[in-house]
Amino acid sequence: MTRPRFDATERLLHWVHALAFFVLLASGLVLYLPSLSEAVGDRPLAKDVHLIAAAAWLAALALIALAGHRTLAADRREIERFDADDLAWLRGHPVPQGRFNAGQKVHAILQAALAVLFTVSGVLLWLGERNTSFRLSGTIVLHDGAMFVAVALVVGHVFLALVWPPTRPALRGMVRGDVDADWAARHHAKWTATDDRV
Ligand code: HEM
Ligand code: HEM
Repeated sequence: MTRPRFDATERLLHWVHALAFFVLLASGLVLYLPSLSEAVGDRPLAKDVHLIAAAAWLAALALIALAGHRTLAADRREIERFDADDLAWLRGHPVPQGRFNAGQKVHAILQAALAVLFTVSGVLLWLGERNTSFRLSGTIVLHDGAMFVAVALVVGHVFLALVWPPTRPALRGMVRGDVDADWAARHHAKWTATDDRV
């Protein structure tokens, strides 16, 4: 038996974000590493890809947020609320969890904060090339630092999604929208017990 987990809005948001992240990371690394720029042989092309992907990413996020605001507002409320069980889970106690466990909530909040940091520092870098008054010291350090933190999180996240056997069944939820009901009851007991979103 399966149980619905993510609707079309949530899946679209996730995969648009993930795709944009990998395109921005790959093109950003070509800009960052001279050896990669040389291997690719066309730094300006990498820069165009980076900026077009950034603009397309922000436009797509805005459209998805507009079209699916009900679902996403409910997700946001759920992710921002940490109850006593979430706090106990973060202290290492394996207590029952809601639709997202406390680690997933922290992950989602960090990724949202990083998306804001990438956008602010990226737009400042772009403006700084056109107008020196936008050239603030530390912008590039912020942009690069956000990349290192985001890459570390994504490596852990993709390991849990694709490799680690206990959490791998979640992938079906993000691809097809539903998950095995027994798996959901074991990993998200409060969600399956109450039938509401948390
Ligand atoms: C709205 C989002 C973003 C914007 C507007 C943006 C913009 C920029 C700009 C203008 C540059 C300077 C290019 C140059 O050196 O000539 C840059 C560099 C770079 N970006 Fe982004 N970016 C964004 C998101 C991201 C993301 C999500 C990542 C990684 C996951 C990333 C990684 C990098 C890296 C590694 C560099 C090279 C920095 C260096 O030379 O030290 N960027 N970005
Ligand atoms: C191949 C790449 C990826 C795979 C296979 C993947 C897979 C998944 C899956 C299966 C879930 C749902 C977990 C659940 O059932 O609760 C999920 C959630 C999520 N993903 Fe990804 N993901 C990928 C890339 C990314 C990237 C690049 C980001 C951000 C930069 C990201 C951010 C998130 C966030 C914030 C959530 C919700 C919170 C969480 O479950 O940690 N994902 N992902």
